[in-house]
Amino acid sequence: MSRLKLGVLGSGAGSNMQSIVDAIDRGELDAEIRIVLADVPDAKILERAKRHGIPCAYLDCAPFRTKLEGPAEDRCIELLKGAGVDTVVLAGFMRIVKPKLLAAFPDRVVNIHPALLPAFPGVHSWTQALDYGCKVAGVTVHFVDAGTDSGPIIVQKCVPVEENDTPESLHARIQVQEHLAYPEALRIIAKGDFRIEGRRVRIG
Ligand code: GRF
Repeated sequence: MSRLKLGVLGSGAGSNMQSIVDAIDRGELDAEIRIVLADVPDAKILERAKRHGIPCAYLDCAPFRTKLEGPAEDRCIELLKGAGVDTVVLAGFMRIVKPKLLAAFPDRVVNIHPALLPAFPGVHSWTQALDYGCKVAGVTVHFVDAGTDSGPIIVQKCVPVEENDTPESLHARIQVQEHLAYPEALRIIAKGDFRIEGRRVRIG
């Protein structure tokens, strides 16, 4: 059991980071957020970090648009290591992370995806679930591997799809569960009470 030293990467609102901050503040998660990095200069996640006194920075990921590679990847690893991070939390980070970052934090990069994987990887997965006619949707927190939204699953939570759902209303219902699922997954990691066996994360 050890206090997690988290580095959070995001691109947007940062509500998942907020749920982690709140869980820490409530004493429900033995962790501290050492640094927050965003690939969008005015991302709200940076504002939130500042408000909580968490060191944060904009990470310029040019020339790449959808992945974290090259000089930005090196800089990211340097910043995370420099901050003493042991666990990397992707919280709405809209880029694919590459093997170099994964190798720098083996089995310690986690992601949240707003779908019940392996269904609907990629973007706008709640719209995909709605269009497909699913009766349940949900969220997955998983370790990151070299694929997209494909690593071993730590926590999943379901929500019903209602008859009158729009993409927005379904996403909002999923987000409520996201904010429970991420702290729960990090609690499992903090307790060290798990092992990864192939695709399976054995807990307890
Ligand atoms: C969440 O829906 C997350 O599952 C997805 O991107 C969104 C990020 O939201 N990967 P936030 O920035 O944490 O509010």
